[in-house]
Amino acid sequence: MKKTVLVSGGAGFIGSHVTVELAQAGYDVVIADNFSNCDRTNYDGVCRILGKKMPLVEMDFCDAKAVDKLFDDYKIDACIHFAAYKAVGESVAEPLMYYRNNLLSFINILDQAHKRGLNVLFSSSATVYGEPEHLPVTEKSPRQPATSPYGNTKQMCEDFLRDSVAAYPGVKGIALRYFNPIGAHPSALIGELPRGVPNNLVPFITQTAIGKRECLSIFGNDYPTPDGTCQRDYIDIVDLAKAHVCAVARMLDGKMKKPYEVFNVGTGRPVSVMELVTAFEKVNGLKLNYKFAPRRAGDVTAIWADPTLANEDLGWKAERSVEETLAAAWAWEKRLAGK
Ligand code: UFG
Repeated sequence: MKKTVLVSGGAGFIGSHVTVELAQAGYDVVIADNFSNCDRTNYDGVCRILGKKMPLVEMDFCDAKAVDKLFDDYKIDACIHFAAYKAVGESVAEPLMYYRNNLLSFINILDQAHKRGLNVLFSSSATVYGEPEHLPVTEKSPRQPATSPYGNTKQMCEDFLRDSVAAYPGVKGIALRYFNPIGAHPSALIGELPRGVPNNLVPFITQTAIGKRECLSIFGNDYPTPDGTCQRDYIDIVDLAKAHVCAVARMLDGKMKKPYEVFNVGTGRPVSVMELVTAFEKVNGLKLNYKFAPRRAGDVTAIWADPTLANEDLGWKAERSVEETLAAAWAWEKRLAGK
């Protein structure tokens, strides 16, 4: 029998790519989204890639009654939770909005997990490691106090899941800690759609290249790194999506070693901002207008994953090169611009 996976926030950047990979791996997928932070572009793209209209429930996960109804209407075997706000700066300005939305929605899902016995996959972030003392970071590296309400919600939701698994028999959970997801689906039918001025590096690069932004500011070139710019672990969005398929299979096939598990999802490869910009120029054959600017508040100097646990236990490994990923990001931006 086919298993059904609920993807909350399934119309967003990561959720849409995960939906495609799950469906292609043979799962039935139910997308739930309230379109508060995205339009229908990615939902439509998912349906085009899969060649069918995907089940879509428009709802807010903060509405406990609506969440209960969703679980009555569909027999859900596993739930992946993406529906959350994600802008670090906005979370500093509007902490209660972030706490209310990101925590309440997850509590409502965990209530259902408690009531019905569910496998829950939480989308966490490398942000939980803060500025790490040792690189690369493993899952055993200590979590650092969060520097933003957004980061705090990631830590708190991890704890909600851990504690629910410990308390309620029948609830199992995996938290995936993403490093820096970038790129787009090779079809160029789904990708990242930031609202307004992008906060993240790659959408800012592609929007500058297409002429929507005048100039990329590289935040800081005086960091203690080989070229002075920050280092991150940029993970291809399709590779990242495939990690979810492995994690869902692990939960549903009874392969978990413990009822609550945490995995880093990264490449293990540090790439500096300057290296990323140069790779983008080279693979796409263009010159990017950029300048060096002061450091951005809150940025860590360097972070990258030790992905050994995910490689060995989850049976997942990042496959795409940074160049392939940047070519896909550029193809997506061009498609958005009708070029
Ligand atoms: N950067 C620039 N110019 C820009 C945008 C970013 O130089 O216009 C630099 C940043 O300073 C940083 C690197 O590019 O060194 C990556 O920045 P991103 O904003 O793309 O990604 P972050 O590493 O800041 O963000 C990640 C996750 C977030 C998470 C955050 C926590 O994408 O979800 O870590 O620190 F919240």
